[in-house]
Amino acid sequence: MSEESYSLHLEDGKQVKLPVYPGTLGPKVVDIRKLYSQAGVFTFDPGFLATASCESKITFIDGEKGVLLYRGYPIEQLAEHSSHLEVCYLLMYGELPTAEQFAGFRESITRHTMIHEGLKNFYNGFRRDAHPMAVMVGVVGALSAFYHDSLDIHNPEHREISAHRLIAKMPTIAAWSYKFFHGQPFLYPSNKLGYAENFLRMTFGVPAEEYEVNPVVAKALDQIFILHADHEQNASTSTVRLAGSSGANPFACISAGIGTLWGPAHGGANEAVLKMLDQIGGIENVDTVIDRAEDADDPFRLMGFGHRVYKNFDPRAVIIRDACHKVLDSLGIDDPQLELAMRLEEKALKEDYFIERKLYPNVDFYSGIILKAIGIPTNMFTVMFALGRTVGWISHWMEMIKEKDSVIGRPRQLYTGPTERDYQPITSRR
Ligand code: ACO
Repeated sequence: MSEESYSLHLEDGKQVKLPVYPGTLGPKVVDIRKLYSQAGVFTFDPGFLATASCESKITFIDGEKGVLLYRGYPIEQLAEHSSHLEVCYLLMYGELPTAEQFAGFRESITRHTMIHEGLKNFYNGFRRDAHPMAVMVGVVGALSAFYHDSLDIHNPEHREISAHRLIAKMPTIAAWSYKFFHGQPFLYPSNKLGYAENFLRMTFGVPAEEYEVNPVVAKALDQIFILHADHEQNASTSTVRLAGSSGANPFACISAGIGTLWGPAHGGANEAVLKMLDQIGGIENVDTVIDRAEDADDPFRLMGFGHRVYKNFDPRAVIIRDACHKVLDSLGIDDPQLELAMRLEEKALKEDYFIERKLYPNVDFYSGIILKAIGIPTNMFTVMFALGRTVGWISHWMEMIKEKDSVIGRPRQLYTGPTERDYQPITSRR
């Protein structure tokens, strides 16, 4: 229980004492749950800028220092030494697995990668030019119509099977959305391959020939998945938690998360970076573009720069910048867009405008270039984000369900509409 409290002195002389809780890291929080019953007011915080919506033990971010920890482990160490599947285990279960635990987990994920044959028919129901994120929202939501045997959210075994199914099937569902769009036959998963390798083969392979996975590309993709695996209470994760708080099944909740991620302010930023680099054209236009970004009267912003939480280097951007070079070297790609991106970064980081506002490149600045080099079409970029983030959504959903005093999420509001008035018959309305 809290030993500290926060006192509010109201205008009518009343004093309200609210408990204050410390976290293991980060700022303390004031518990305002009894504020309305004691003071008769709500708090007003659209966008949750100053509100902790839940207690969580999964991920910690210190945006001022550029720190990102998954279950206490720095993202830099995980990206260098771990694998996405191991990170999935860590996020879901709270600890790094022993060799035996990891073998069991990998086996379970490998055995759940196929999707029900009936689900194949779903793809044919979409228009050929359907956005892959639309396909993801539909097919992932539809999993709940095929896997009835794991839908009891109060049964821990059901929850675990659903979680494994989601992590395992997501690459298959995503690769098939690519195949459908390109009019190519679907490829079934191969149990010989790792998580990222399997996705690459199902996406770029064809039944007529063997697909050889490029290990540098597979490693970079695995790292992209690690870097996107969780980011505490972002919009899509908060959506999953809110949907889950009503008791909805995990497939429906994750589908809601995918829908939220689709928005350009969330998962669509790396797509925007590539479009911007295209529009800039070449390095000869860098100065003009920086001038535009700094002009208060010009709405233009440098895409891939700045972050709501990170007011220092996004630690994920440093890792992905290195991966980006490795991929381009391995594929022998001399990408003028990368050179342009480097010049932009170099120039912006020296500008007072960017220094004063603490605007640094974020993870999206580089991820788009890597994905493009690998051959992922721009409209699949957000799908790649969803693939990585699935485990984060699942881990938060599981954490929420296990809470003893979990309640349905139900924000309050500041009502500014009409006061009560009487109904008027249509003939007397003006
Ligand atoms: N280019 C130029 N100026 C910028 C940029 C940018 N990319 N980002 C912020 N600024 C300026 C703003 O104009 C503002 O200037 P002012 O103080 O003179 O008015 C100041 O920096 C603060 O901007 P805010 O929008 O208040 O900062 P906030 O932290 O709320 O915004 C955001 C963060 C939305 C990410 C912003 O930096 C942005 O629009 N960046 C470009 C889009 C982008 O890359 N988004 C991806 C985010 S990462 C992710 O979602 C995984």
